[in-house]
Amino acid sequence: MPILGIDYDKCNNCQICYNACWRYFRRDKEQNKIVFDDPNNLCDSCGRCVARCKSDAIMYENIGELLNFEEVQDPSTLISYESMHKFMSAKRSMRGYKKKKVPKADIEKVLDTMKYAPTGANIRTLKCTIISDDEKIKKLSDAVMDGIIASNNPRYTERFIKAKKQGIDTIFFNAPHVLIIHSRNPGDAMNSTIAITYGMLAAQTLGLGSCWIGLAHGVLSANKEAREKIAGIQGNIWGVMILGYPTQIYYKVPPRPDIKTKGLDDLE
Ligand SMILES: Cc1cc2nc3c(=O)[nH]c(=O)nc-3n(C[C@H](O)[C@H](O)[C@H](O)COP(=O)(O)O)c2cc1C
Ligand code: SF4
Ligand code: SF4
Repeated sequence: MPILGIDYDKCNNCQICYNACWRYFRRDKEQNKIVFDDPNNLCDSCGRCVARCKSDAIMYENIGELLNFEEVQDPSTLISYESMHKFMSAKRSMRGYKKKKVPKADIEKVLDTMKYAPTGANIRTLKCTIISDDEKIKKLSDAVMDGIIASNNPRYTERFIKAKKQGIDTIFFNAPHVLIIHSRNPGDAMNSTIAITYGMLAAQTLGLGSCWIGLAHGVLSANKEAREKIAGIQGNIWGVMILGYPTQIYYKVPPRPDIKTKGLDDLE
């Protein structure tokens, strides 16, 4: 949302935009008003100023919907810590899927949540290739399996040779959809991790299971031919996730060790 300036018919000179972003808003003492001043076009389009202006006085190039719901002012009213903690701790990596495809509208919902994940400097370059064709998924899975087998990794190689002979998909677990996040921006290595996490949690609200497939990420990053010819992707792959209706039910949340912490005991 590149900022175009201030609509002074609406502006009440509250200066909140200046507090939100003193880099590109400044006080013009002579005119006694706030001005948007970004001669070098450095504004990163984060939209913080627009979101803080109560008077809708900041003009911007429309790049999408401006969400305006009451709870946005205090998001803690939307979900309790207890609900969120339960929801997130119940998130499991699903490795069994029904044959059913996910409706486009639900995949759109997952992507719509992913787009709200933070990105460094608000640079929005992530792309997502969705592979839903079973034959293509199988080809991709075979290419990844071959890559792992060739790596002679004692953890996987023998197991994967056996699985391949038996026709078991140990890469995508017969998931109906494989989502590959990619771009040419190296900063997306980190951005993609957060976006995929957002997407997986959104998927869970829709009754969908998911799993991060680091093995596919590793092999496809190294195997240009599989990446370009099977997945049709140019550039870097930053993350691979599978999605579908789970066949597995978890009755408990497995234990996880506490994060080793320093400084916590100093707090009251
Ligand atoms: C970066 C990353 C890579 C992963 N790669 C794979 C993978 O290639 N195949 C797989 O079955 N699971 C993969 N997983 C899932 C992990 O094995 C799983 O998150 C972990 O065992 C904890 O289980 P949970 O997600 O059910 O809590 C990956 C997870 C992460 C975060
Ligand atoms: S926040 Fe909005 S109303 Fe307040 S000074 Fe800035 S543009 Fe004007
Ligand atoms: S969009 Fe972000 S960077 Fe640009 S002027 Fe507003 S707050 Fe500043």
